[in-house]
Amino acid sequence: SSQRHIFPTSDAAAQAVAAHIINTVKAKPDAVLGLATGATMEPVYAHLIAAYQRGDVRFSGVTTFNLDEYAGLSPSDPGSYRSTMDRLFFDHVDIDKNRTFLPEASLDASAAAGNDYEAMIVKAGGIDLQLLGIGRNGHIGFNEPGSAIDSRTRLVELHEETLAANAKFFDGGKVPGSAITMGIGTILSAREIVVLATGAAKADAVRDAHCGTFSEDCPASALQTHNRVLWFLDSAAADAR
Ligand code: GLP
Repeated sequence: SSQRHIFPTSDAAAQAVAAHIINTVKAKPDAVLGLATGATMEPVYAHLIAAYQRGDVRFSGVTTFNLDEYAGLSPSDPGSYRSTMDRLFFDHVDIDKNRTFLPEASLDASAAAGNDYEAMIVKAGGIDLQLLGIGRNGHIGFNEPGSAIDSRTRLVELHEETLAANAKFFDGGKVPGSAITMGIGTILSAREIVVLATGAAKADAVRDAHCGTFSEDCPASALQTHNRVLWFLDSAAADAR
């Protein structure tokens, strides 16, 4: 089943997502969280840090798996999703960094790298809550249009539109052209999926994600096949033309 929660502002939507994550971690202190990057998620992490600083939540027992990572960047590169997660969240809370995982993304990443990541998720007990954003073209993680519904963690090429959207995170605008991402099948294996989409630029993708059946043109439409998806939207993202 899927639930839609619509908020007047993007920050209210992000705050509600943070509250939902906090409740999950309070109920299950050793929860396995699937995490996401992107500008949309930045206020979520800010709210989680604020809650931690107030003493409302502890992350010391949590294990995390991020959706994706650029290929060919060293983890210490400021543009890598590892650096981004450290800067936006991990460095500010009591999480054990040895239990924070992102795909291993060398440029010559073999099929084995994807399989290893899948095996680590299974060994951790599977993902309890997968946090998910959505790309303007309906991508989830870095599963671009054309990705198969049963795809697993693998090396992918990024589309022009995605490169352009993410250029702002790179000095000089040079975004790596490939990445390792959990597959759509990997994402659908999570017990619960929490999608956050804010702003008018996401409205078409949000609408296409709800359009009846899975279409490879909109990877997020695969979420319709999952039994527990919570959508958190601001009014701009909920309002398709
Ligand atoms: C990137 C990430 C996605 C994210 C998307 C949207 O491509 N790999 O996980 O959902 O961007 O990002 P933003 O929130 O910046 O619009």
